[in-house]
Amino acid sequence: MRVKSIEELIEVKRDGGTHAREDLQRLVAAFVTGEMPDYQMAAWLMAAFIRGLDSAETAALTEAMARSGRMVDLSSVPGVKVDKHSTGGVGDTTTLVLAPLVASCGVPVAKMSGRGLGFTGGTLDKLESIPGFQVQLEPDAFLAQVRDVGVAVIAQSADVDPADKKMYALRDVTATVPSTPLIVGSIISKKVAGGADAIVLDVKVGSGAFMKTEADARALAAELARVGELLGRTVICILTDMDQPLGRAVGNALEVREAIATLKGAGPADLTELCLVLGSKMLVVGKRAETEGQARALLLDSISSGRAIALFKRWVAAQGGDPDVADDERLLPLGAHVLQVLAGRSGWVTGFDAEGVGRAAMALGAGRARKEDPIDAGAGLEIEVKTGDRVETGQVLGTLYTSDPALLEDGEARLREAVHIGDERRTPPPLFLEA
Ligand code: URA
Ligand code: CA
Repeated sequence: MRVKSIEELIEVKRDGGTHAREDLQRLVAAFVTGEMPDYQMAAWLMAAFIRGLDSAETAALTEAMARSGRMVDLSSVPGVKVDKHSTGGVGDTTTLVLAPLVASCGVPVAKMSGRGLGFTGGTLDKLESIPGFQVQLEPDAFLAQVRDVGVAVIAQSADVDPADKKMYALRDVTATVPSTPLIVGSIISKKVAGGADAIVLDVKVGSGAFMKTEADARALAAELARVGELLGRTVICILTDMDQPLGRAVGNALEVREAIATLKGAGPADLTELCLVLGSKMLVVGKRAETEGQARALLLDSISSGRAIALFKRWVAAQGGDPDVADDERLLPLGAHVLQVLAGRSGWVTGFDAEGVGRAAMALGAGRARKEDPIDAGAGLEIEVKTGDRVETGQVLGTLYTSDPALLEDGEARLREAVHIGDERRTPPPLFLEA
């Protein structure tokens, strides 16, 4: 058969045709080597965005992306390697809790994470708020730490899944991010290249998530599972609410504090419950427990016995960080300028613009608008109310922290706008949507 030119491949998708596996392999390879310029990939991405890819095409794309660079080999680490991924949210501190928690129950965690961009936070930025913490480890040191300590979390290295890095950068500026097959390819290829046998995914739904509607989130979850299975990986998805921030803290060091409290059994109820549910699934697919009930008991025992926080300290120390942050939170940065945001009226908290809460934290210095922007590790906010709560005029809705007092006014306005107070009492939305 004659090999199609890149232009012909774009034409096929533009006209709603279906790609063969080899065509997608060729497309990804040509893009990564530079043979296919950005403008051709941008055109193909838009065609794929509009026409869609079926599951077989998505699996072929995903596999080609995963193989576009170095594949992490975790075979020297015994056991089932389980990775966890969240599709992004506001104040989502789960990785900081789950990584040491499931590791303390015997499931190894070898994780590559990203930085925050836009209104969502990134695990690496949170970890780097711990004094001394290093997120760059050589591949051998990474594996040795997973074997010795049970957990390592590092920056995605440039040579792993380069196709995703180049494609994501284009999608970001060509309005082609919210496409189910492209998101599936991006997420699953990174996990496959990262060496995961099984993946537990937390698909967020709501105002603080990529997927704003339940129908979109369900479709994404189903396709993630189907494509994972086609590639021989176990993928388990849960759908959770992102209509209000998770826990109380939004911001880097503030979320580290919240994770430490949760690992000691004193965290916010919603964050704790989400970590127990995700952690139970990780222990079951990791073959450390037969049922989620057994797994939950193991996780709770690790928290109450102090094993979970002890492992957190070993992990932090192994990556150069100061483990004493677990005993003395004053060792973590905290913005010196503090402002309490008070309710301007009485009523009921009817809901949040969760994205707006994320943007308020960013405005205080906790996030970055561009990749190269610095962040203020001690900046962010703590929310004092949840949907369904009664509030009175003058009651504290949240507390803002920043190193730059000039940012408080904008942060306050944004947080005030993001907390909706009305006259009708509203039942709080459930954290878990039925699978
Ligand atoms: N998260 C990813 O890693 N990739 C996407 O495309 C969307 C969310
Ligand atoms: Ca939080």
